[in-house]
Amino acid sequence: MEQERPALAAALALQCDWGADEALMESPADRLAAREEPARAPEAARLAAEPAPRPIRAAPVALATAPPAISRAEALAAAAPDLAALKAAIAGFDASPLRETATNLVFGEGITASGLMLIGEAPGADEDRAGRPFVGASGQLLDRMFASVGLSREINFYITNILPWRPPGNRTPTDAEVALFLPFLRRQVALIRPKRLVLVGGVAAKGLIGGKEGITRLRGRWHEVEIAGLGRIPALPTLHPAYLLRSPASKREAWADLLLLRRTLDQASG
Ligand code: URA
Repeated sequence: MEQERPALAAALALQCDWGADEALMESPADRLAAREEPARAPEAARLAAEPAPRPIRAAPVALATAPPAISRAEALAAAAPDLAALKAAIAGFDASPLRETATNLVFGEGITASGLMLIGEAPGADEDRAGRPFVGASGQLLDRMFASVGLSREINFYITNILPWRPPGNRTPTDAEVALFLPFLRRQVALIRPKRLVLVGGVAAKGLIGGKEGITRLRGRWHEVEIAGLGRIPALPTLHPAYLLRSPASKREAWADLLLLRRTLDQASG
């Protein structure tokens, strides 16, 4: 049993990467039913008594997100001449099991020509149902926060997510999932050509800025994100509204980020 642990752990990690979020079988197991050990032939009995062969260590890497899938995502994204084609390319991209468990593709929405683009993490249950980004409780808080500095998705910004599909059970996207969908997100940025990005939450900040620093260290100042065909775009990481709903005391920092954004926009237009 001890020897099998690494292989079992790798298999479990793979299942999680593929989107399994509940330990269910297709049909219920009757655990009360008496189990009879089938009689073993002498040779089978001898083999059964021998120690199990050493399991081959499975690398805990999801096959669906291995580099060829990322290369395919890059090629599909690069070939999309506009947002409609990009959305169709994402819809047809079958390398992620997230597509099978989600209900709707959640693409971006808002004002493409506004110069400001917000990038979140991934759709939740409400977004998955509606096929629109940030429409649930955290989206409503985000709308109120941005409205407090005079910004809305109807007039002032475009909003999207790193992942276009909901991870089952609203779990945090894995690094492999982020890497797989980043080519599509980067192409979305290249097509929209914003002057500034706001990275909403740690997953978006880490996905686009990279490095090891968490959101609490990254937030509150402008960074730069390199986008093919556009160059370096100023990017402001900020706290995710879902986090603010759990930790209202952190709204102070989020408010400071919004004021910095407002000041920057005013200076640029003044
Ligand atoms: N959280 C996100 O990061 N994006 C959404 O669209 C909804 C919740």
